[in-house]
Amino acid sequence: MEEKRIPRHVSIIMDGNGRWARERGKERIFGHFEGVESVRACTEAAVEEGIEYLSLFAFSEENWGRPDAEVNGLMELMMRSMKNEYRTFMDNGVRFVVLGNRERLSSSLNATIDEMMEETAGNTRLTLILFLSYSGKWDILQAAKKLALKYRDRADELPEASAEEFGDLLVTAGIPDPDLLIRTSGEERISNYLLWQTAYSEFYFTDILWPDFRKEAFRAALDEYARRDRRYGKVK
Ligand code: FPP
Repeated sequence: MEEKRIPRHVSIIMDGNGRWARERGKERIFGHFEGVESVRACTEAAVEEGIEYLSLFAFSEENWGRPDAEVNGLMELMMRSMKNEYRTFMDNGVRFVVLGNRERLSSSLNATIDEMMEETAGNTRLTLILFLSYSGKWDILQAAKKLALKYRDRADELPEASAEEFGDLLVTAGIPDPDLLIRTSGEERISNYLLWQTAYSEFYFTDILWPDFRKEAFRAALDEYARRDRRYGKVK
């Protein structure tokens, strides 16, 4: 029997927290609270399945436009969740990484993130990446600016710059592109997430709302991935 194909990198657009809460007549933030439980469940499942990278779109650049109460509630929730999970990360060999426009985060949140990243840097079982204040266009633009600076004094060499070189200037440098991108809650769009990095990702959409997306749902997505035929624009 052929061995089941496991993705190296699974990325998730966690969507539907607000609707989950509304269905229960509660404030949106309750959906986010419950969503943290799904983060824990999927992280555990990823460790169990031997996945190397799990990345989560936790807060987009556009999300800053939500009401202050929700933004503050989310930031507080993230800070608390990170601190709460520290022990579990250490016990399970999870390296924790935050990527995004960190300048927009509060200094206290940045300090917590720095501490968590330093403390977990030596863990090798799973890399858990939280995209915070991230957008794909922001990432591509900041990479383009770096490329411009790099070639400032030797513009004649610019035409030789490769896609690989450009990829190394994105915040995801050194991280393999997602093999599988999951989006929950029935929405089927990329929403300015990993635009460059998902060039050949397999997309998986489910109607399940994020707070209900637990181990079984995660495994169903992996099963579907194992059935996909990846050709990267070539023929078999
Ligand atoms: C999308 O639902 C969800 C978010 C914008 C936030 C998700 C963040 C978490 C679950 C926190 C995870 C953090 C850690 C540190 C574990 P939505 O609000 O867009 O839902 P809607 O589309 O139904 O309105």
